Amino acid sequence: MKKVQVVLGLNYGDEGKGKVSTFLAGNSDIALRCTGGNNAGHTVEFNGEKIVFHLIPSGILNNIDAVIGNGVVIDPKVLFEEIEVLSKHNVDLSKLHISTRAHLIFPYHIVEDKLQEMLKGDDKVGTTARGIGPCYMDKANRIGLRVIDMYSDDFERKLRRNIDNKNKVFQLFGLDKLDENKIVSDYLEYRDKMKPYVMDTVSFLHDAMDLEKSIICEGAQATMLDMDLGDYPMVTSSNPTIGGIQTGSGLGAGDITDIYGVCKAYASRVGEGPFITEQNNEIGDTIRELGHEYGATTKRPRRCGWIDLVALKYAVRVNGVTGLALNHLDTIGKLGKAKLCVGYKLNGKIYTEYSDDILGHESELELEYKELDTNFEIAGLRNYNVLPEEAKKYVEVIESHLGIPVKFIGTGPDNDDMIIR
Ligand code: GDP
Ligand code: IMO
Ligand code: MG
Repeated sequence: MKKVQVVLGLNYGDEGKGKVSTFLAGNSDIALRCTGGNNAGHTVEFNGEKIVFHLIPSGILNNIDAVIGNGVVIDPKVLFEEIEVLSKHNVDLSKLHISTRAHLIFPYHIVEDKLQEMLKGDDKVGTTARGIGPCYMDKANRIGLRVIDMYSDDFERKLRRNIDNKNKVFQLFGLDKLDENKIVSDYLEYRDKMKPYVMDTVSFLHDAMDLEKSIICEGAQATMLDMDLGDYPMVTSSNPTIGGIQTGSGLGAGDITDIYGVCKAYASRVGEGPFITEQNNEIGDTIRELGHEYGATTKRPRRCGWIDLVALKYAVRVNGVTGLALNHLDTIGKLGKAKLCVGYKLNGKIYTEYSDDILGHESELELEYKELDTNFEIAGLRNYNVLPEEAKKYVEVIESHLGIPVKFIGTGPDNDDMIIR
């Protein structure tokens, strides 16, 4: 039977979506990305090689069709760098397909991203500075340029119009003007290079489903970074939650058969913004070192803390998660003891479900924790039955709090370091 499986981040990103997606792609026909851009960094260790994906769905490593859907924002420079890396790994890129409707990132978006961060001062978001927000802003403002627009007679005029208008603003802030002719000639070159990959991906996906083909959809970013459902304004400029998967691909709601939420046995965040269970102390430092928590895109050290079951329950609800993928159980086993946040207390009231009541009060919360012994060595194990009791208990406590099954357990960074339940 055909399956359309979606893999979504439940926290602040970097939960291991790439690894889980590549694993599931082993039994799929098409790998799909629908949201975000090269703010994403998905690390996959496959057949002994480590590859970081930013735009192309990592499932392509299984030599299946790979689709960059209409909801993705594409920086062509990054795309071709990634294509070059994958060619060196002998990946068959004739199976890469790029949506005609995907929006393009231009150099002015990157300048705007940095400028906006600077103007926000202490309120800065800590973006990846990849031009993601400004590209989505132009999309909403209806001055964005899509892949299909590159093949229209009007492309050069519209691109020059945009560069000219952006340059006027840059000059107001004392920034250098961008070289209009250089950008135009670079993008005309990208247009020709991209041509073989471009197609109507919505029809491609639906035709494939009619032929009973299975799709694995690799989410990017995560629920708490969602523009509508996350920690606004400390979010990304898209919808990484389930709704964004549909608008970013053209898949119908009823087409989706499984929604897997990914989290780690602890939590991490890069960039600014609230992080309720953060351990800005020796514990956080230890988790960072044990889990190698440094950004795949920006190399920034990730902020680390305990798993937050209250926020996770919210993420499970808003995405309709049907099963959990729990990564880094091996890492938590090296800590000896770990805490799981099971409630927030605010003004005498205990919240075991996430609520808007806490917005703006994150730093005032008293946290209720359950503490568990986590002294186990499970690196690379692939069978649930052989796990030590402490490891099983950790899984089962999470399962009972979230009310959904833990279907996949990560026991190491390699693509096959995974237990299926
Ligand atoms: P993504 O953005 O959600 O795909 O996640 P990232 O690739 O940014 O970060 C996840 C990191 O954890 C990567 O370096 C993975 O190789 C690593 N990883 C994923 N699952 C596991 C696991 O179960 N155990 C260990 N030790 N590492 C893991
Ligand atoms: P993956 O797919 C972690 C964060 C940034 C910043 C905020 C806004 O690898 O999980 P942006 O550049 O999107 O405007 O930045 O969102 N952010 C991520 N954090 N993993 C990601 O992607 C992220 N993508 C964006 O750090 O706080
Ligand atoms: Mg990442």
